[in-house]
Amino acid sequence: MSLIKLIDFKSLGDERGDLVAIENNKSIPFEIKRVYYVFKTQKGVARGFHAHKELKQIAICVSGNCKFIMDDGKVKESFVLDNPQKGLYIDKMQWHEMHDFSDDCVLLVLANDIYDETDYIRDYSDFIKMVN
Ligand code: TYD
Repeated sequence: MSLIKLIDFKSLGDERGDLVAIENNKSIPFEIKRVYYVFKTQKGVARGFHAHKELKQIAICVSGNCKFIMDDGKVKESFVLDNPQKGLYIDKMQWHEMHDFSDDCVLLVLANDIYDETDYIRDYSDFIKMVN
């Protein structure tokens, strides 16, 4: 089974342009408790490099593009997120990294819980021990 789980967001656009609306428990499979976004990522910088014990997230590149590497401890898969109508589901216990941010990349993330540093697994060898 692929680690790349995409959610399609329908555009309510018309001749004026596009519009995507996202609602709790409807367009996405959880209640949103937090929204954050990453932008102006400097050249050559990669982010992420962690997994979450419980947190579920959906990442949307609302502008530009970046490459995700998803890793469940057994398989690694990469995917270029470059479409504001596609959300990448980041399940709990999925190591994820973001690379190759375009200059105009704005990465919006919807999360099902508030920020909690104790939910992070930031050490890859700890992650591998926990998944096995
Ligand atoms: P971090 O999760 O390390 O970013 P990334 O995984 O994208 O590289 O977060 C960077 C800093 O911001 C870190 O000090 C934690 C803080 N932070 C919050 O305070 N709230 C949040 O919702 C997030 C995502 C990060």
